[in-house]
Amino acid sequence: MSGMRRPVAVIIGMMGAGKTRVGKEVAQMMNLPFADADNEIEHDAGMRIPEYFEKYGEPEFRRLESDVVLDMLEDFDGIFSLGGGAPMTPSIQEGLAQYIADGGKVVYLMADPEEAMERANRGGGRPMLNGDANERWKKLYKERDPVFRSVANVHVGTRGQSPQAAARKLMEMI
Ligand code: S3P
Repeated sequence: MSGMRRPVAVIIGMMGAGKTRVGKEVAQMMNLPFADADNEIEHDAGMRIPEYFEKYGEPEFRRLESDVVLDMLEDFDGIFSLGGGAPMTPSIQEGLAQYIADGGKVVYLMADPEEAMERANRGGGRPMLNGDANERWKKLYKERDPVFRSVANVHVGTRGQSPQAAARKLMEMI
């Protein structure tokens, strides 16, 4: 089906990078639908993500996340954002590679680490940051940044930019 689909993009990046905020802006500017994988997961699970983690644990969350994200990668024509940890799951990595092969863009939204960390901690409701949130965020960033770079075919730096400015920059690159 290469070349047959509309230009579409999936946004990845760290917790607090602004994936959903910027993704919504881009979708609006391009007049495309927007979806957030975490919202779809919550809808399927019938509960909020922290509750799901507490009840079933991270491995079960990653399985559900993989099912939801792979469905979206196949069917969703628009802009959508993934939860920060999603690109670490091998099945999702395969899905992202296929998405690129089909003409899609996988966008690594590279926010300033200090800004993203601060926003992630302020936001709350993130079970991966339980405990010392800054230390947890930094550790995850170190593990994830190289993977995000390698699975994405578009890298967008947003240091010091408003969500609107970041969205315009992203739009020009997809
Ligand atoms: C996670 C990030 C969250 C959510 C879940 C796990 C992670 O999404 O999927 O809490 O492992 O980084 P955001 O990146 O939108 O916060």
